Amino acid sequence: MFTVPPIAAQRLPELLCTLPKAELHIHIEGSLEPELIFALAQRNHMPLAYPSVQALRSAYAFEHLQSFLDIYYAGASVLRHEQDFYDMAYAYLARAAMDKVVHAEIFFDPQTHTARGVPIEAVINGLYRACADARTERGISASLILCFLRHLSEEDAFATLQQALPLQDKFIGVGLDSSELGHPPEKFARVFARCRELGLHRVAHAGEEGPPAYIWSALDVLGAERIDHGVQAVHDAALLQRLVQERIALTVCPLSNQKLRVFPELKDHNLLQLLEAGVVVTVNSDDPAYFGGYINDNFTQLFAAVPGLTAQHAYQLARNSFEASFIPEADKARFIARLQAHCTAFASAA
Ligand code: ADE
Ligand code: ZN
Repeated sequence: MFTVPPIAAQRLPELLCTLPKAELHIHIEGSLEPELIFALAQRNHMPLAYPSVQALRSAYAFEHLQSFLDIYYAGASVLRHEQDFYDMAYAYLARAAMDKVVHAEIFFDPQTHTARGVPIEAVINGLYRACADARTERGISASLILCFLRHLSEEDAFATLQQALPLQDKFIGVGLDSSELGHPPEKFARVFARCRELGLHRVAHAGEEGPPAYIWSALDVLGAERIDHGVQAVHDAALLQRLVQERIALTVCPLSNQKLRVFPELKDHNLLQLLEAGVVVTVNSDDPAYFGGYINDNFTQLFAAVPGLTAQHAYQLARNSFEASFIPEADKARFIARLQAHCTAFASAA
């Protein structure tokens, strides 16, 4: 086990912001800043329901997941052409690189776009090209995860998979997102089974607002390798034990959970409880343009709000992000060695 040398508490925010890390839970449509929504609406000659960037931003006050999703899908409607998807993804990757994200696994929601007549090729090729350019120009690696919208039917998910398959070399896995309550993982058992046969990685949102039973079925029915959110797992001791024993990671998003009222306040977040129970927890931004912060804001605000979080926890969270990623084992080892070297150098530079 690597022990972080002593670091003064007041240096913790700087440590958090400089740690090399992976981001494993980011919806690329949730990175669309109001300024870019306005620019794309103008470029595509589309009217917007809000008169200004400020007016749009001030509508970002949510009561629960659904009230957010309604505004998030409306925002995504300005994306029409391959270049729009490129610009959105490149902006996120450039921003993430500033937060010392060295690898990102990015969700995208093709059905949001194909339902409006946008070809799936425009979506995937635009995002993929941004990932390739960001790797060359910003030194950040990234891969794509195609998410099925769970409020739609399994038949619709199958049709989307069919459309995407000619581009299968451009995404590494599939996920499940959108309205959780009333849409259990079981609804997508067959499409996930097919994705498994195709050699795709599988993740699923579960236990964000929904019960621990949805986490069990994401694992058992969908064969999910990671759980997105999963914070409701604390209500089920047997489930917690399974997550720990099988090293199933949770991609937790503190500011999202605060803004969508999963927890009354950030100080009430259960991330430390999960971490201390031995769960492979990671910190992520979910939809940074809507929830008031990118990955480093999630780290720094959480550490400021929750008593007891230390430099050792910060190291563990960053380490977990590499362990839980879908990169080759040799790359994980390389990133973890870099992370440890950073902690040692940071402590000695006091
Ligand atoms: N789509 C974008 N963000 C989401 C979230 N937090 N939960 C479910 N679906 C989403
Ligand atoms: Zn999410």
